[in-house]
Amino acid sequence: MPNKMALLKRFFDCFCDANRSYGVAPPLRRLSERICKMDNTYEIAGFKLAGRTAVIEIENYNAEKNNCGKLTFKAFALERANYTEFGNIACFTGKEIEKFSGQADYNAADGVFAINLEGAEDGTCYRVEMYENGEKVTAFIIDSGKLYLSSETAGYIAGQLTEEEIASLTVGTTVGTTGDKAVWGDSGETVPIKRFNVPALSVNDGPQGIRLAQNTVWYPSDSLLASTWDTDIIENIGRQIGEDAYDLGVDVVLGCGMNLQRVTLCGRNFEYFSEDPLLTGLAAAAYTKGVQSTGAGVSLKHYAVNNQETARSLVSSEVTERAMRELYLKGFQLAVADADPMTVMSSYNKFNGTYTSVSKPLLSVLREDFGFNGLIMSDWDSGGDSSDKIAAGNDLTMPGHEDEYEEVLQSLRSGKLTRAEAEQAAENILKVICRSNGYKDIYNGKRRAAGKIDKEAQRKEALEAAKAGMVLLKNDNNALPLEKNAAVELMGDACKNTIYGGDGSGVVYCEKQISVYEGIISKGFREADSETSADCGIIVIGRTSTEGEDHANKGGDFRLSDEELALINNAAERYRSAGKKLAVILNTGNPIEVKSWLDRADAVLWSGYAGEMTGAAVAEILSGDKNPEGRLAITWPESIELTGWSADFPGSAASTKYGDDIYVGYRFYETFGVEASFAFGHGLSYTTFRFGNFRATADNDGAVTLSVTVKNTGKTSGREVAEFYVSKPENSGFKQPALELCGFRKTRLLAPGETETVEVTVKNEYIFTYNEATREYTVPAGNYKFSVGRSASDIVLSESAELAGGVLFKAYESLPAPAKKFELLNPEKGFDRAAALRKSAAIGCDTYCSADEGGKYPSANAVDGEKNTRWSGVGSADKRWLVVDLGKPVSLSEIEIVWESNNAYKFTVYYSADNEVTGGTPGTSELPENISWTELRTVEFELADTDFVGFDGISARFIKIEVPSKAGWCSIYQLKVYEQAAGAADN
Ligand code: BGC
Repeated sequence: MPNKMALLKRFFDCFCDANRSYGVAPPLRRLSERICKMDNTYEIAGFKLAGRTAVIEIENYNAEKNNCGKLTFKAFALERANYTEFGNIACFTGKEIEKFSGQADYNAADGVFAINLEGAEDGTCYRVEMYENGEKVTAFIIDSGKLYLSSETAGYIAGQLTEEEIASLTVGTTVGTTGDKAVWGDSGETVPIKRFNVPALSVNDGPQGIRLAQNTVWYPSDSLLASTWDTDIIENIGRQIGEDAYDLGVDVVLGCGMNLQRVTLCGRNFEYFSEDPLLTGLAAAAYTKGVQSTGAGVSLKHYAVNNQETARSLVSSEVTERAMRELYLKGFQLAVADADPMTVMSSYNKFNGTYTSVSKPLLSVLREDFGFNGLIMSDWDSGGDSSDKIAAGNDLTMPGHEDEYEEVLQSLRSGKLTRAEAEQAAENILKVICRSNGYKDIYNGKRRAAGKIDKEAQRKEALEAAKAGMVLLKNDNNALPLEKNAAVELMGDACKNTIYGGDGSGVVYCEKQISVYEGIISKGFREADSETSADCGIIVIGRTSTEGEDHANKGGDFRLSDEELALINNAAERYRSAGKKLAVILNTGNPIEVKSWLDRADAVLWSGYAGEMTGAAVAEILSGDKNPEGRLAITWPESIELTGWSADFPGSAASTKYGDDIYVGYRFYETFGVEASFAFGHGLSYTTFRFGNFRATADNDGAVTLSVTVKNTGKTSGREVAEFYVSKPENSGFKQPALELCGFRKTRLLAPGETETVEVTVKNEYIFTYNEATREYTVPAGNYKFSVGRSASDIVLSESAELAGGVLFKAYESLPAPAKKFELLNPEKGFDRAAALRKSAAIGCDTYCSADEGGKYPSANAVDGEKNTRWSGVGSADKRWLVVDLGKPVSLSEIEIVWESNNAYKFTVYYSADNEVTGGTPGTSELPENISWTELRTVEFELADTDFVGFDGISARFIKIEVPSKAGWCSIYQLKVYEQAAGAADN
């Protein structure tokens, strides 16, 4: 071949010389890329633009030089369409100028092609497509010197960026844009690249409205939107938020929240839709379609398994691959497939040991398995090197700092980050910029004038959604609705201090809000002048939530405070004895404990965080002007102990196990037969409905059609939700939850006596099982039971269908496994309710310790009943120890130690039944005198987390946990001490 190559080179040089008027085409980005298609391998080895002629050199790598396909080319002029100079940007559309005019029948060895570009009018650059036997194999850009950003040129421009430009594009705004922000006060921006007229991309929170200093409407939270079970309503709210974004110049809304509400106490549950992935995915698709219909983009967040706030920036969520694919990633999968979101945000936490933003296998799922083609950005200041993020597929580091810019730049220079990886990230960012409103405004030469929003109209939409999402949890003897103009006694802090949404990045600054108090009064109800003149009592219980903090299983938080309980008890007594009703409104972002007081309320309404119109929506429901139609998107447990996750929560700062595996939310309750206070899907109406004629029909394409008639059998118009569940075949070779949501549909407003037939298509993507061994998303063949119900625990009708099944697709690669094996919930073993409900005898007892970081992590934290507070044994050179004094000798069954260690590798348990001791200062290292210790057992381990040590009826008053002096620091989150059940010692 040398002769031939020499020839080619001469040929090129000659064009090069001739190439004066149009300038030399810079090296082609994909110049050295081999094109393998249909068993043939070529390389575009050379490329020039000479006058209006493009010259392409092809090198043929096939053994049989004359056995390759027929190559043809098409050239397009990238003309500046509707070109207006505005902000110094122009965009291009491709116009085909000529079919290949050279060797159309090329079928030989290496060769040179000349393409005549004469047809171009004002094209300053060109796109050339190469076809083999009529099938497109590649496309490339010919740059004639003046290049502007467009979706056509994004990939090429990425190839032209300097290392500095790539670093500044892939690291957000704090670099180089001081004084130059496109939108002041937004959460972040990308850095513009002047040389190619690339504008900034402005991104801003999300998801309950746009969080800027300006006043915008505060819409219902994601958790309330999901409770509408109405994708039209969700899409409409998305549209309003998109309009606001556009009005404010924000290109991407940082939302919606996609994490499953796995942990009842998660502080950000209000920003998330549901504990169920199908409801999450379909709600997110609707939200995304709504926002993106305005040209604004969304950022589905946080990818992935960011299901708690405790230690969110450090903790590794340890999850099985099956639970990941079937539950935690599925919402993203459905939303990507259905709504093409512009961006996804990776999360703060680690997944099985690696920060999600630097986990290539995890991020690859989005692109390779789900077909996501937008940009992935990091959460704000998340862990991991920026260059590692890029290498893993996390294109953009937000909000971006100088040191991160330097890190990317140096990594590019040293080769730690490859040019190809960096260009890919840059291309992903540029392509999203091309989709953005900011870019399109420039393209159109004008911006829609800001401040054109009709806020009153938006408030009405917010109100409609708020009303549709609130859930009537209880309504004995039709306590609600109230009589018109009833006199009401309004109680509870949140009545006037209503909570409209959560705090943190999700907060929204609105102009005015309507409290429950204002809503009720302006609806015409009278505030009773004395408690005896009231027709009804209304208590509003509120809970705030904030990003960065989880709720706690204590009074005033998950449980009622003593004052709240007293308020309810007292009011219940008064109203009951007067033959009147008491209604409780729960203005919370999360479920709270209700079992212990529920019998005292005649009606309970969950108002959720319904945005600025909360009070107006509550009033419409209380008055009956709105018949409640919301359904719970999360289970309300009887107690925190009776959940699938509580044994693992919150884990340590290092890791949190997902021992509930595929049994999240109602999948746990229904599979393990554990009762909840309110089931997933529960919600009452002022009317009644009857389901009939339920049919499940397997379609030819593998999908299943479900249909049911819904009849309003009551006296009021209302809307019902048909919730469809599937029970997968037991002999499928997989353990399966008892049932799973596989579709839903809300009826239109049905008048009394009216019937509607609702129908849903259950796609394979809704009901797949993930096979870890074969990496297949599959629908195992067999008999599937489909049901329609009023909640996950109230199934009304069922029908079976035989499914032929099949493989949907094979995963690109396996996900990493948890660092170490741990026990998963297993239906064969069941759930030990009694063990879960055991109370620790150590709660609130006196404690002593060797050291506690100068009082920062006191020993009392180890027995406060909270697993997210800890005693830290760091700071002592000697042995670390913690002692608890139970007050008197107690016959014990075992102790449970929830703890974390650095280099500690074992601990020893001592006990003492001494009761005649004196002195000691609790909280310090000064123990009572003369305790005689007996050594019980030494436990060795690799990584501390939860250990049980049996006492088998031994009587002890003092218990000591001691860690050897050589060890590093250790922390005990909770030391639980369980008494021997009465009589157990004798058996
Ligand atoms: C939150 C994100 C948010 C971002 C920007 C982070 O702390 O986790 O949800 O979008 O800040 O405000």
